Amino acid sequence: MATTFAHRMKEVRASDIRELLKITERPDVISMGGGLPAPELFPVDELVALTRDVLEQDGARALQYASTEGNADLRARIAALMQARQGIEITPAEILVTNGSQQGLDLTGKVFLDPGDVVLCESPTYVGAISALRVFEPRFVEVETDDEGMLPGDLERKLIAEARVKFIYVIPDFQNPSGRCWSLERRRRLLDLAARHGVVVVEDAPYAELRYSGEPVPSLKSMDAGGLVVYLGTFSKTFCPGLRIGWLAARREIHEKCVLVKQGADLHTSELSQRLIARFLARYDFAGRVEALRAVYRGRRDAMLRAIEREMPAGVRATRPEGGLFLWIELPPDVSARDVLPRALARNVAFVPGGSFYPNGGHENTLRLNFSNQTEERIGEGVGRLASALREVMAEAHGKAAADAPDVPLSRRAAS
Ligand SMILES: Cc1ncc(COP(=O)(O)O)c(C=O)c1O
Repeated sequence: MATTFAHRMKEVRASDIRELLKITERPDVISMGGGLPAPELFPVDELVALTRDVLEQDGARALQYASTEGNADLRARIAALMQARQGIEITPAEILVTNGSQQGLDLTGKVFLDPGDVVLCESPTYVGAISALRVFEPRFVEVETDDEGMLPGDLERKLIAEARVKFIYVIPDFQNPSGRCWSLERRRRLLDLAARHGVVVVEDAPYAELRYSGEPVPSLKSMDAGGLVVYLGTFSKTFCPGLRIGWLAARREIHEKCVLVKQGADLHTSELSQRLIARFLARYDFAGRVEALRAVYRGRRDAMLRAIEREMPAGVRATRPEGGLFLWIELPPDVSARDVLPRALARNVAFVPGGSFYPNGGHENTLRLNFSNQTEERIGEGVGRLASALREVMAEAHGKAAADAPDVPLSRRAAS
């Protein structure tokens, strides 16, 4: 007997990344696929001590049902952190603790989207946001995007042309997948256009703390005079993802709606996890921890850039991100990253084909590389193997002669 599922399930597909992660769990595979932070940097010893303290001092309160909004101490600390580190004026009452920022995306979809509504997003955008929002059956309209962010002209055109825009979804800091960081000017233009059209902006900022070079740029939320920005934050990249602690910060009216739908979804986020993070923030040096992460990831980013320059064949372009966990590669237009993947996997190296990051398809000549989860040495080795897989596919696409042509260093190939 055929089982009848909801209409929305028609659009729900397996994520390439989830499938890939299964393969990349094998230790012999050099994975540049998932977006995993470096596990050797997780605060394991601190958590052992903190867990004992929380359970001894707070006892059953750490294990009881708790408020949907989140632990009061943690909310106050998150508000203070946003103020101190990003200049964002926010009260604890505007913070909702979520089960990772991924839940923030789900809640945002639930409170704003009816079937057929429009989400304006960067092109490419975070594949996990596409999956989280797709179940609400919106139409994703991609806005043309360059290295500085969305093109204001195209954004304005689409805001005018599309009657049902509910929100603009952006990752302004070291975007997943492209690594790009929006310029201040583009941030201002976005806020200005959003205000003129009365459209909410969802600012997803998991990588805001992870800058390795260049000058900091203010967050959208810090410039949000009209209360249009819904900010999604997380401790997944600065602490560890396994505790699943993120947060949503929004003005009261939006916050209240999100609390209501979260209540229906999971009642509340793990109280034990929240207390562990709150206590970590009280007792340890968060700024020092972020500095230590930056030092390691900066080294890995540089190792990947060096390897790309050394190994990649002509016709390949790479971004030079100033932070985050990812670097974005464009292959020649006639080469599909999906054709490269099996050959890379045969060499025990993994990456994510870039097509998955475009909600409306296309752009198959792109791919995403993660540099946080491997040592510098393995990154060098992995990029070498990937380049070899790529040469094989390009040789087939272009004929042997073209693939054997002398390489031009990547730095002279208009890498952004
Ligand atoms: C842009 C973006 N948003 C949200 C998330 C979800 O993060 P988490 O739920 O662990 O906070 C990720 C994870 O990689 C991400 O890259």
